[in-house]
Amino acid sequence: MSYKILHVKSTKDEIDEFAKDVDMGLSANPKYLKSKYFYDAKGVKIYENIMNMPEYYLIASEYQANGRLSAGITDFISGSRINIAEFGPGNGEKTLLFMQNCIQHNLTIKYIPIDISKESITYITDVFTKKLPQISIKGIVGDYTHGIDELTNLEPDNPKIILFMGSNIGNFSNEEEIEFISNIAEKMNEHDSLIISFDLVKDIDTMFNAYNDPYGHTSRFNLNLLDRINTTLGGDINLSNFHHEEPFNQETSCMESYLVSNVDQTIHLNSLDKEFHISSGEKISTEISRKYTLDYIDNLAVEAKIKVVKQYFDDSEGYAICVFKIN
Ligand SMILES: C[S@@+](CC[C@H](N)C(=O)[O-])C[C@H]1O[C@@H](n2cnc3c(N)ncnc32)[C@H](O)[C@@H]1O
Repeated sequence: MSYKILHVKSTKDEIDEFAKDVDMGLSANPKYLKSKYFYDAKGVKIYENIMNMPEYYLIASEYQANGRLSAGITDFISGSRINIAEFGPGNGEKTLLFMQNCIQHNLTIKYIPIDISKESITYITDVFTKKLPQISIKGIVGDYTHGIDELTNLEPDNPKIILFMGSNIGNFSNEEEIEFISNIAEKMNEHDSLIISFDLVKDIDTMFNAYNDPYGHTSRFNLNLLDRINTTLGGDINLSNFHHEEPFNQETSCMESYLVSNVDQTIHLNSLDKEFHISSGEKISTEISRKYTLDYIDNLAVEAKIKVVKQYFDDSEGYAICVFKIN
């Protein structure tokens, strides 16, 4: 067993990039903030609460589909040494189960988790080295894009399993998801597998309640983005001047997360030495969570020039884990 953690950027460069992205997003019309900034130490803790809510059906569904994926692992993996690269593993709980299954099949594993959140990578490295002492880990604190470059550094003779779980893909626009999958596919050999989980479109109330919970966790998660701006960029944003809204957009099949301004206001960010005006009722887009159909997924595969070879579902068939191979 061995492990190391690679930080793609220095803390100063991370803050500079955050400042640049916030400036761009708040200067745009309509305004937006990138969802990858949700997961600071506070955001990670709030997300744990979200995962534990009964309304957030995605977690139970992913566990069920993941169980079926793990049971069918020999359907798509050959060889005895594998590299598992995972984009956005979060706390890695479901991956741990998947890997325990791989180990039962006598597979030797090198694990490369890639997450923008240093809390995630530190936590995973700590837990996995204790629970799976057989595996070696190279954790990468950085954006997905850096992880794609990392795929080139893996031994080509050992099959790669590339995981993108938790329906994280739903946070991409259609153009972004095609680009992301195509870029990964370019780095894949015939014996490699790309595994992605998708939340399928279902009745509106179920989806709505998952993102508009009565405990206020999702609202706090969203507002924490403003808190992070205050803390990191010297902002004077009054959080009570905003509220969380998350409707389902039937046209795009996306849950859309917004921070909505309650008043006409001007906020000032010290580190940018800049003010931003936000009107009463104006919405800042913070995330989309796309809800898929199987036809859409097939089409996505065609556009990204790969093919679906296996699909594993949850009990209600409202959640799908798809295994892709190159054509
Ligand atoms: C919704 S959590 C899902 C975690 C995990 N896949 C699961 O199923 O529980 C999303 C994770 O992706 C990471 N993430 C989001 N955007 C990212 C980006 N652009 N680059 C790297 N990591 C990102 C977050 O830090 C977080 O840990």
